[in-house]
Amino acid sequence: RLLIIDFGSQVTQLIARRLRELNVYCEIHPFNAVDDAFLAEFDPKAVILSGGPASVIDADSPRPPATVFELDVPILGICYGQQVMMEMLGGKVETGHGTKEFGRAYVTPADSSTKLLDGWFAEEREQVWMSHGDHVSAIAPGFEVFGTSPNAPFAITADESRQFYAVQFHPEVHHTPNGLKFYENFVKLAGFTGDWTMGAYREEAIAKIRAQVGDSHVICGLSGGVDSSVAAALLHEAIGDQLTCVFVDHGLLRKDEAQEVVTMFRDNMNLKVIHADEADLFLGELEGQSDPETKRKIIGRLFIDVFQKYANEIEDAKFLAQGTLYPDVIESVSFSGGPSVTIKSHHNVGGLPEKMGLSLVEPLRELFKDEVRALGRELGLPASFIGRHPFPGPGLAIRCPGEITREKLDILREADAVYIDQIRKHGLYDEIWQAFVAILPVRTVGVMGDGRTYDFACALRAVTSVDGMTADYYPFSHEFLGETATRIINEVPGINRVTYDITSKPPGTIEWE
Ligand code: XMP
Repeated sequence: RLLIIDFGSQVTQLIARRLRELNVYCEIHPFNAVDDAFLAEFDPKAVILSGGPASVIDADSPRPPATVFELDVPILGICYGQQVMMEMLGGKVETGHGTKEFGRAYVTPADSSTKLLDGWFAEEREQVWMSHGDHVSAIAPGFEVFGTSPNAPFAITADESRQFYAVQFHPEVHHTPNGLKFYENFVKLAGFTGDWTMGAYREEAIAKIRAQVGDSHVICGLSGGVDSSVAAALLHEAIGDQLTCVFVDHGLLRKDEAQEVVTMFRDNMNLKVIHADEADLFLGELEGQSDPETKRKIIGRLFIDVFQKYANEIEDAKFLAQGTLYPDVIESVSFSGGPSVTIKSHHNVGGLPEKMGLSLVEPLRELFKDEVRALGRELGLPASFIGRHPFPGPGLAIRCPGEITREKLDILREADAVYIDQIRKHGLYDEIWQAFVAILPVRTVGVMGDGRTYDFACALRAVTSVDGMTADYYPFSHEFLGETATRIINEVPGINRVTYDITSKPPGTIEWE
């Protein structure tokens, strides 16, 4: 496996993404967690030193342990990683003065070449992405220059006898179009064969789960979302009947959702699923509440109570399974820190395992989201589950601004089903990151046939996004919007007005509460 030592670059995760695309298994660890003992234990076959915002000129700037250069494995330094490498191996780094470089740049080859650049320089020069204030002003003994850019004379350097490679640009970003090839060359030089596939992961993960769990029982919270569905399917394959899933139905699910999840996992896949039908409890406690944070807190608290109640009935349970993913696990290197403002209290069951005295099983903690989907396909989960839009823990509660009533929830479920049906029929589902209807806490006047109506207004929401942190509204055609509005008003009693939400995030959020 390959070790990426993180110095806090915004794009370190992308290095891991690229390597995974090449079917190479790698892990990111922050520089301050990597010491001699760690290196001995990890035993990397190659090391990448990431970029980062610090300056190696500062006395207390981050360093990898010096022993990393004695491991006798290929090392690639990127940006800050290059500079730190040069500094530690006897070269020199200077700051700025007309040689800062941010954005697109072109690297041209030096006389000789290295295997690292196989397939490069097809066009005499390669576009790359630079982002540096400091630059290497003298390379370390043993290094040679293989590529230069106008502001980075040492854009690509290497000491081939020791297999040390160091570049000033970022090969992991999209703006370095040939970057994947660059990484492919590096991992080949390091002897990786690209054999880390989902099939292999599945076997490994199953063996690991069996070793961890032994003959104890595992509880898994099942929401029907991609992560918990894949985790449950994988655990079931590993330990069969030692797994019990708890599906908490808070009465805030979409149309037919509870039935679909239970049928699929219990009837089709033979998992033990407890359907905790607690709609009365949740909706009862939510009655009369209209403040968004109060609603979220009530749901969060009840969710934990309910989950615990059902889980306590499962005999000799020792483990709780969670669908934690790799981006949640990577400890980020923070230089600025500082408290951030709570925009919304997220639904989170993080404290549960300690409270219940259970250990955690996290079979997806090495995977990125798209890899979880690939594993889901490998396990035979239907495409309709794997490609689903995300659905928030508090469910329809946060799509029903103001007070929640059963009447509004029923109307919302119907409108949402029509909207999603429209999106699917027009082949747009996979282009959209998330789409849903929110029912607004106002009634407006309309006319249908010869009669007056006084019904709810609703808002359609559809966004594109990569990670939900920022989002843009989806540019539906007017025809699509018109047709959808007509269908909703005709097919859903209780709604007589449809609006389309064209707010991006920021300044809006994706959900309405
Ligand atoms: P916002 O509305 O904050 O949503 O822009 C960003 C993404 O997060 C989802 N979301 C949640 N997911 N528990 C969740 O599991 C929550 O409490 C929660 N609140 C929002 C939302 O659906 C969107 O995908």
